[in-house]
Amino acid sequence: MTVQNRFPPFALAVASALLFSTTAFSQQQPPPRPTPPPTQQNNQPAAAQPIAPANDPGLRTGPANAGGPLTGLSGEEWKFFSAALETFQDINSVSGTIPGENDAGLGPRFNHNSCAGCHSHPTVGGTSPAQNPQIAVATLHGARNIIPSFIRPNGPVRVARFVRNADGTADGGVHDLFVISGRSDAAGCQINQPDFAAAQAADNVVFRIPTPLFGLGLVEATPDANLRTAFDANAALKTQLGVSGHFNTSGNDGTITRFGWKAQNKSLLIFTGEAYNVEQGVTNELFPNERETTAGCSFNATPEDSTTLDTVANVASPASAHASDSLNIATLMKLMAPPTVVPSAAAQRGERVFADLGCQTCHVATQTTGRSTTAALSNVTYHPYSDFALHDMGRGLNDRINQGEANGADWRTAPLWGLGQRIFFLHDGRTNDLVTAIQAHASQGSEANGVIARFNALARDQMTDLLAFLRAL
Ligand code: HEC
Ligand code: HEC
Repeated sequence: MTVQNRFPPFALAVASALLFSTTAFSQQQPPPRPTPPPTQQNNQPAAAQPIAPANDPGLRTGPANAGGPLTGLSGEEWKFFSAALETFQDINSVSGTIPGENDAGLGPRFNHNSCAGCHSHPTVGGTSPAQNPQIAVATLHGARNIIPSFIRPNGPVRVARFVRNADGTADGGVHDLFVISGRSDAAGCQINQPDFAAAQAADNVVFRIPTPLFGLGLVEATPDANLRTAFDANAALKTQLGVSGHFNTSGNDGTITRFGWKAQNKSLLIFTGEAYNVEQGVTNELFPNERETTAGCSFNATPEDSTTLDTVANVASPASAHASDSLNIATLMKLMAPPTVVPSAAAQRGERVFADLGCQTCHVATQTTGRSTTAALSNVTYHPYSDFALHDMGRGLNDRINQGEANGADWRTAPLWGLGQRIFFLHDGRTNDLVTAIQAHASQGSEANGVIARFNALARDQMTDLLAFLRAL
């Protein structure tokens, strides 16, 4: 059995079994739960948070510790990975005619012009960089897009969804920020951006930020049975702490869906096809039809990305050259290694605090893949710190959008691997402070209230160690 990203061995299970018995924490009384004030904006932080005795040590500097391939790839897999890494960074223009932006298919509506633009920190495949690339793309090549107020130069990359349609029925879909109108490669296309200012005034717009893509092949290769076993393993502790949760499942085949903030998507390939069309406007074999059909705005035959049926000779990876960009990118994500941790004595102590508090009732440390046709993914133990299940996170995090079996307050336990180098936290990127992100777990109705009360009662040294652990991931 191969082991990826193993934190130095620790008695996680023992620590959790001791909860409420002999640990120092069991002597402490949790403070009363904060009661959220009545509010219309139920996607806003619910209440003033208690003052924490320790601070987020901040973004870990140094190497990315992520972005490379899994160990144990075959020669052909390695070549495919290298070729696909280029494809992931390709930039789309409308018809692929702009030098340096020679992938066709951008728009008519879009949020950005490349996968790697949004998934870029701390390296290609990650998440929001410190400087939001959506600012520059808004007016690239003559486009006249207005930057909505929720997109800031040093804020997170954001994608917007509307809660309701004009007639009051549920919407929930992504409304792209930008249009190609005005661009030099989109002559004759006359469409307008959605009225985001009005949507904001009507409390009708909510946000999501990108999630990092490292290690996701392991997640995909984990059988439902293994996810359920890991979920059930801490059932008694969950009951003690008031944590429940459930999986999101596919309406098509009934199996557990695990990708996206609400675990709404089934596979890396489906996510790629959807992201291509929704974020960039690139039609493909999975999502072959344009979302915006106004006459004068369709510049290409569809699907804009597809399998090459020509014979391909003399390239580094003929398999990659033959495959669609979508398949290239999905395979790249499948073969990316998870982030590696940076161990320290404080981080090791902090891992114990994490377990003692009960964070791992949702942020399950260890998962195991099944037998995979990709040898590097077969029977691998890995440490995502997620159960990939949904939990009701209460009123403060409710975005009022349902996806599959997820309702507004339900979110997939955010995997914590790579957290040390993540700049923005929570589904909408509302904070870049780790303590604020943890305290935001608590609000009216949240399953995490019991655990967060214990977090707020930590002594300074223990909280310092816990934060060191999280920034080591
Ligand atoms: C405009 C920015 C943007 C672009 C461009 C973009 N993404 Fe994303 N990506 C996001 C956001 C936002 C999410 C979270 C979406 C959600 O859960 O609703 C996300 C989530 C994902 C996930 C889910 C990962 C997980 O943790 O479950 C995958 C996979 C993904 N993107 C792949 C891609 C691929 C492949 C491309 C290019 C075809 C791409 N993205 C382009 C913003 C972007
Ligand atoms: C009831 C389940 C649950 C418990 C208990 C829980 N979490 Fe979470 N955690 C989540 C979910 C779900 C999210 C995503 C919420 C969102 O984005 O709206 C999350 C997000 C996070 C994030 C932000 C990650 C990111 O990528 O934005 C951090 C950090 C975090 N949790 C740490 C902790 C710590 C530390 C504890 C213990 C003190 C803890 N969590 C307890 C479910 C839980």
